[in-house]
Parts: sequence; C-alpha cells; structure tokens
Amino acid sequence: MTDTGVLKVAMPKGRIYKQASKLFREAGLSIPEDFDDTRRLIIPVAEANMEFILAKPVDVPTYVEYGVADIGIVGKDVLMEENKDVYELLDLGIARCRMSVIGLPDWKPEINPRVATKYPNVASQYFRERGQQVEVIKLNGSIELAPLIGLADRIVDMVETGKTLKENGLVEMETLFQVTSRLIANRVSYRLKNHAIQALCDRLGQAVPAGS
Ligand code: PRP
Repeated sequence: MTDTGVLKVAMPKGRIYKQASKLFREAGLSIPEDFDDTRRLIIPVAEANMEFILAKPVDVPTYVEYGVADIGIVGKDVLMEENKDVYELLDLGIARCRMSVIGLPDWKPEINPRVATKYPNVASQYFRERGQQVEVIKLNGSIELAPLIGLADRIVDMVETGKTLKENGLVEMETLFQVTSRLIANRVSYRLKNHAIQALCDRLGQAVPAGS
C-alpha cells in the first residue's frame, strides 16, 4: 500500500502510451517532454505530486489491485481478461478498437474447433455462453498466424484499423465488445486518496474526446 501523499499511476507502455500521455497533457497535467522516449520505469512528477510507473499493459490491473499503484490506465480488453478486483472509474475514449472472432473466409464449423487467442478467459466465456465447445489455445502475439498455418480454426483478437486482417486474407465474423482505455483505481487508495483521484478523474474526464 502507498504510504505517502504521492499519487502513483500505472501507465501502459506500447500502443496506449502515446495517446494516454497526450490526454494527461490535454488535461493540464505537467508530463515531462522526455516521458515518451525514456527507458526509465519510474518517473516522478513532483509538481503534480504524482509518480508514473511504466508497466507492461497486461500487468497494470495487477499493480493496481495490489495497491503498488493507486490508479492505472488499461484497455477494456485487458480488464475483461484479467478480471481483477479494481474500480473502473472512467472511459478515456482512447485506443479505440474491438474484440472480434476472426477466421478465413472459407471457414466451416467443425466439431470441437480450436481457437487461438491472447485472451483465453474472454474467448472461453464467449463460446461457453453460446454453448459451443472449443479448444482454446493461448498465444502471445501475431495471433493472425494461427488460422493461416493451421494451428487454429478461428482466433479471438483485437481489430483496430482492420489492416492486419486485410493483409492476411482474414475476415471478422463477430464482434464481442468495443474496446477503449479505462482509468482504474485501487479500492483502498480510492478511499484514502479520494480527493486527488477524483480531481484527476474530473480533469481527465474533461479532456476525453467528444462522443466517447
Ligand atoms: C494487435 C492485434 C492485431 C492488430 C490489429 O496486435 O492483436 O494483431 O493489432 O490492428 P489493426 O486492425 O490496426 O491491423 P499488436 O500490434 O498489438 O501486436 P501482437 O501481434 O503482438 O499482438
């Protein structure tokens, strides 16, 4: 648990990172300019009484659940997969994409088909709710390879622009849910640092793109 008044923010590296730091700046928070290029993992911003922890996106809910970060920014995809005990405070409307079932255009239903994904919990729940028995295979990236090389019949993965699907001759069959980044909070921090968290939430809320 945090023991100072500093607000610790778990920030995901990678895809969400640039959009999230832009949103913080638009919200009037003084994020250092070298923030985007640094290899440092902990960046204090004394004037804002904050400290940024630069984390692998999938680990952000874990840091927040354990309270080593008070708040964090994370995609709805990761939140659904990780199912951690955290508060979801705000839809930031950034890093917009969707979680979909994808396959080759000539795909035909099979008995006990294989589904490859980075999101085994999400995929298992989706097919279970539809009464479809599938074998879920966990991969860590380049999921689109799986149907192309015969590892799986379908995949469950994120689609943003659709470019990866198009370039690999795959089609989207169904959308599971829309994905944007969310602001999450540790349950105890939310009580103990309520003023700071609520103030940040309000400022970010005002900077969220219209229509989100
Ligand atoms: C994600 C996702 C798709 C791709 C979709 O992969 O898993 O492969 O982006 O984006 P698009 O619709 O704009 O083409 P990511 O780039 O995160 O890398 P990964 O293959 O390692 O998961």
